[in-house]
Formats: sequence, structure tokens, C-alpha cells
Amino acid sequence: MSGNLVHADAYTTGLLSKDLPTELTRLQLLEKTYDPGTVQVLERLRPEPTWRCLELGAGAGSIAYWMADRVPAGSVVAADIDPRFIDAGRAANLTVQCADITTEDFPEGSFDLVHARAVFMHLPQREEILRRAVRWLAPGGWLVVEDVYFLPAEDSPYPQWRQANGAWTTALAAQGIDLAWARRIPAALTDAGCASVGVSVTPGGLGVDDDQDELLRIRLLQSGDRLVGAGLATAEQIDQARLLVESHPAPDVSTLVYSGWGQKPAR
Ligand SMILES: C[S@@+](CC[C@H](N)C(=O)[O-])C[C@H]1O[C@@H](n2cnc3c(N)ncnc32)[C@H](O)[C@@H]1O
Repeated sequence: MSGNLVHADAYTTGLLSKDLPTELTRLQLLEKTYDPGTVQVLERLRPEPTWRCLELGAGAGSIAYWMADRVPAGSVVAADIDPRFIDAGRAANLTVQCADITTEDFPEGSFDLVHARAVFMHLPQREEILRRAVRWLAPGGWLVVEDVYFLPAEDSPYPQWRQANGAWTTALAAQGIDLAWARRIPAALTDAGCASVGVSVTPGGLGVDDDQDELLRIRLLQSGDRLVGAGLATAEQIDQARLLVESHPAPDVSTLVYSGWGQKPAR
């Protein structure tokens, strides 16, 4: 592991800080929910055993570990501004790097696969980082970018959810997180010079399955006090929303995870 960053980034000091006692559980639930879709997208690129892979904002590490298994004669760099949850000893071909991807530059043409999930939306420089990620690819290499698109909170059929989810999305937006950028991923990949651009979408939200409900319950637990403190919700509204989540209601799809992929043209 290299680097010694002060965590001044909005992600790590805000609503999603890794200092929160439940953050590892939240990240692992995120993995449980979205890894199957991610693996499906990565598999369709037919990774070769020798591929050099870069996982940006690796979180709790599951996709970096999957890549390390999938490219036994290749290598994986798992980069994160706060990599405390990634086990560097998990595989011999895995390197964990403490890196702020808004400033870090990897050598040009040095990866066959670069992947980032639920990362770019957090970073105001997202389009510029995406362009740099294309530079890091070798000719013929693939960039896969996945992010969350939030449907309007006010359209929820559940009044309690309209309030609590509305408070959450308002707080995220105030941190500089773009709740709609995911929809632009395919166009951004094309603008950055990628070919063979494609996209798939995974729905998420209240009542979709037990893991999503647990993810949302933890999110309320982590953020409730802050949302109340910021005047975005009352304690009673947060409590009503928690009761709703715990009742496993009929599904209310409130997010779409866009998975976009594109290939750097071969020279
Ligand atoms: C919502 S989590 C997603 C984790 C993982 N990609 C996943 O989908 O399971 C976002 C991750 O991006 C990391 N991150 C946020 N800003 C970053 C930055 N500027 N440079 C590198 N990593 C960053 C966070 O530390 C966190 O691990």
C-alpha cells in the first residue's frame, strides 16, 4: 500500500464516511446486491487470464478479488482513497493502492480493463477522470463505469419514503454527488473516444429484495441523525421510514444502476 492521504474528500468525511461503524456492512450489502450484474457485464468482455486490471474506488474489495481470480496470470490494482477494508493479502496478483483518483495518474496504456462502480458520481471531476481512465487503457482495453441514477423521490407511492428518501437525496446532492450522471455514462464513454459502447441497467429500491431493504435500513441508521440535524427531516419521519423498510413493502424502484462499457480502439 502506498500514500498517506488526509481524508478531506466529501465522500469520506460526509454521509458515507468509513469511520461509521456500519459502513463495512453497508459496502458488503452493496456488493451482494450489485456484484451479480457487474460480473455479468465483465464476463461479456471475455477477460483473458493475462489481463492487467484496475479497480477504481474498490470499497470492500469484492470485484477486485473477483478480477484477481479471473486473471490468474495477470494483475489487479485496487485503488481507493481509503482502502482500509481491502485485504491486500487476498491474492498474489492483487496490489492495493491508497490513491485519490482525482489526482492520481496511472501509466498510459497500462491496463486491459478499468472498472469503477458507484465512484464517479461522487466526484465533480467525473468526466475528466473518465477521459484519463481511457488513457490508462491499452489499445483494445475496456472501461466499465457503473453509477446510480436516482428516480425522483417525490414519485414514491409511500409518503414516509418520499420524505426520508427526499432528505437523503438532497443531502447527497449538497455534497456534490450527481444523482443523474449515470444516465450519461454511455455518451461520456463515446465522447472519450471509446467504441463498442453498451449499457445495462439494474433496478434497486425499497422492497426489491431483503438485501436492498437491509441496505436502506442501514442507510437510515447511518444518516438519520445528520438529516435531522441538517433540518431535512424530523426524527419522527426517519422513524416512520425505518418502520416502512422493516415491513418489506411492495417494491418501489427508486434507483437504476447504469453499467456502461466501451472499448479503446486498437491502434
Ligand atoms: C459507494 S463506494 C463503492 C465501492 C465499490 N466500488 C462498490 O461498488 O462496491 C465508493 C468508493 O469510492 C471510494 N472513493 C471515493 N472518492 C474517491 C477518490 N477520490 N479516489 C479514490 N477512491 C474514492 C470510497 O472510498 C469508496 O470505497
